[in-house]
Amino acid sequence: MLGHPSFSVEPWQLTEVALDLDVLAQTESLFALSNGHLGMRGNLDEGEPYGLPGTYLNSVYELRPLPYAEVGYGNPESLQSVVNVTNGKVIRLLVNDEPLNVRYGKLLAHRRSLDFRTGVLDREFEWQSPSGARVRVRSKRMVSLVQRAVAAIHYEVEGVDRPVRVAIQSELIANETVPVFADDPRAASAPESPLEPEAHIANGTRAALLHQVRSSGLRVAAAMDHTYVAPEETETTSESSADVARLTVVSSLAPGERLSLTKFLAYGWSSVRSRPALQDQVAGALEVARHTGWDALADEQRRALDDFWGRADVEVVGDPEMQQAVRFAMFHLYQAAARAELRPIPAKGLTGPGYDGHTFWDMDVFVLDFLTATSPGTAADALRWRRSLLPDARARARQLGLSGAAFPWRTIDGKESSAYWPAGTAAFHIGADVAYAVVRYLRATEDQDFARDAGLELLVETARLWHSLGHEDAGGGFRIDGVTGPDEYSALGDNNVYTNVMAQLNLDAAAACATRHPARAHELGVLPGETGAWRGAAKAMVIPYDRRLGVHPQAEGFTDHEVWDFAGTRPDQYPLLLHFPYFDLYRKQVVKQADLVLALHLRGDAFSEEDKVRDFDYYERITVRDSSLSACCQAVIAAEVGPLELAYRYAEESAHMDLSDLEHNVRDGLHLASLAGTWMALVDGFGGMRSTDEGLSFHPSLPRALSRLRFRVVYRSRQLRVTVGRREATYELLKGERLSFSHYSDVVQLEEGAGARRAIPSRPRRPSPSQPVGREPRRFRTET
Ligand code: BGC
Repeated sequence: MLGHPSFSVEPWQLTEVALDLDVLAQTESLFALSNGHLGMRGNLDEGEPYGLPGTYLNSVYELRPLPYAEVGYGNPESLQSVVNVTNGKVIRLLVNDEPLNVRYGKLLAHRRSLDFRTGVLDREFEWQSPSGARVRVRSKRMVSLVQRAVAAIHYEVEGVDRPVRVAIQSELIANETVPVFADDPRAASAPESPLEPEAHIANGTRAALLHQVRSSGLRVAAAMDHTYVAPEETETTSESSADVARLTVVSSLAPGERLSLTKFLAYGWSSVRSRPALQDQVAGALEVARHTGWDALADEQRRALDDFWGRADVEVVGDPEMQQAVRFAMFHLYQAAARAELRPIPAKGLTGPGYDGHTFWDMDVFVLDFLTATSPGTAADALRWRRSLLPDARARARQLGLSGAAFPWRTIDGKESSAYWPAGTAAFHIGADVAYAVVRYLRATEDQDFARDAGLELLVETARLWHSLGHEDAGGGFRIDGVTGPDEYSALGDNNVYTNVMAQLNLDAAAACATRHPARAHELGVLPGETGAWRGAAKAMVIPYDRRLGVHPQAEGFTDHEVWDFAGTRPDQYPLLLHFPYFDLYRKQVVKQADLVLALHLRGDAFSEEDKVRDFDYYERITVRDSSLSACCQAVIAAEVGPLELAYRYAEESAHMDLSDLEHNVRDGLHLASLAGTWMALVDGFGGMRSTDEGLSFHPSLPRALSRLRFRVVYRSRQLRVTVGRREATYELLKGERLSFSHYSDVVQLEEGAGARRAIPSRPRRPSPSQPVGREPRRFRTET
């Protein structure tokens, strides 16, 4: 963790050189491995001690009834909650007759390191048992980015100064006890023993467990196989029972002698397939993994990551912590999505059970901004997952008396899982966020197959929702009343500006795409007058403006509300949601997270530069950043119209969110939106990159902390590298056909292999806006 004495600052790794059990749960999230299908927290190999054990399969969930004190029409009836599936990470070690547990005996040396280029978690330590026997242990763990069902662990134990008898117990464990943090609504509400045993097998070096998740009926299979290199006279036994399967390898080690075990794991799940079919699938995947072997799996992993970094790397000169943080962020984002394939990318990825494993708009607006520019294929997959939710989203819209599709605010399988409708169902902006991600993807790829296949359908169904949700007022304006915008310290506002400008984009984009693909539009039942009606609504959209203050109110009437008593709020009363009733937050001017300010970014075309300056200044004074989604948005707008130094402080806050556990909940998993936000702050912020219908543009400008920023992006099948210095920017077209884009007001045209240099114009000096007392962005460094 940045700033923690056990962690070092390195460009390509997160390395811990001492084990601090007080932050064990946090480090389990930071060291988590995933491929988007399978996720494993960075729990210690021995299984204990742990902060929070966790192994997840994307979209495997439990269902629990949602009890309401008062019945309300349209309330979701059950909550989906991510399940901690069978743990295959566990490798226990008995040294003579004592279990290796770092709480006892002495940990003489420890090093854990996650390498962003190899995608392998390395651990090395030396332990002395309470009775004085010493062993040296090295382990390597990976979740394969190439073989979707597979993870592997290489575990090696060595005798140190006298002969030792060791027993390695490699296990699969289901229904582990998981601690519950009941004091925090952002944590998960983990069910007890969610897995019903179906079958267990142990045979030689192999074993498997099959379970069914109790209430959702999903079937989960986990299997393991092993190879080992050991001194002669090594014995193995295997056994299994309903919730545990175990291979035990017993050996005696002279000093310097080693026993090494490679464990291959395969996971699968299904809602429809039979037990034998699932069992065969994991057996097959396991066989392929074993046949591939550790070394080749590691090579494949490296190649997948070389590819990723080759098209996506961000280099930062001047701030080594930022360099480490942005690569840490990009590594986690990449692995969260790499093999998700038509499944969601949850707010915490597969790194922990926070928010019950739900996917929110975090994916569409934040994570997909990053993926579209670096791995567009995975962005398309995530949007195809959104498309697969349309049947449920249409049904939800009907239930709410609306047309089109109403996407769930939080979900795993597509059904609304938010029991609190003012900050759930009413956050209709989720529909426009999905549409925005489609538009962003189409602008960056021109992928017309996607437009025909999923894009248009998403745009049409969300546009239909807006058209039925809004109405025309007496003056001919199109109003959207009673909805909640991104800021969850306000609810049920009329004409929330973010919602309205995003709905406007949604309506226009649906009309334009339907016109471009008439045959597909016909198939989707788009009526002749419909596109005109969407365009009309977009044109007439009400965008409230407070003439007295010269700013946009977040929603109608917002700027008339009483301003929150910031001076009377103690630092320990943040986040406010844990100390004040929503009733009070809702009727005051206090902003949890960028709302209007995010609109300034995503709909930059809808606001003049003066609007942006004044709006940013106004909202800075009342924004408390009680959400991890805020700092990065403020960074991007500060980089556009505010002081660059303020922008950099927000970028740092985003970069430190997880690495320094700023919100005190990293134990539950990483914040993917804020990881994407670190990238956004650098690329959209200091690179000034925007992708609009007119094409790609850059307005780069560096803060004092950096002497150079270099990033790569994928755009319309090209690879572009941008290097931003203090006075000039260099653009290089690394791959692909001729490309035109703009640098400030200049048009730049590049052929493959060519580069162009452009001067960076100086910026107008503007005073730095102030923040609520005590809520200024933190200082992480002494400014030079
Ligand atoms: C934020 C939401 C976000 C959710 C999940 C909440 O605290 O207010 O905007 O979607 O967390 O990250």
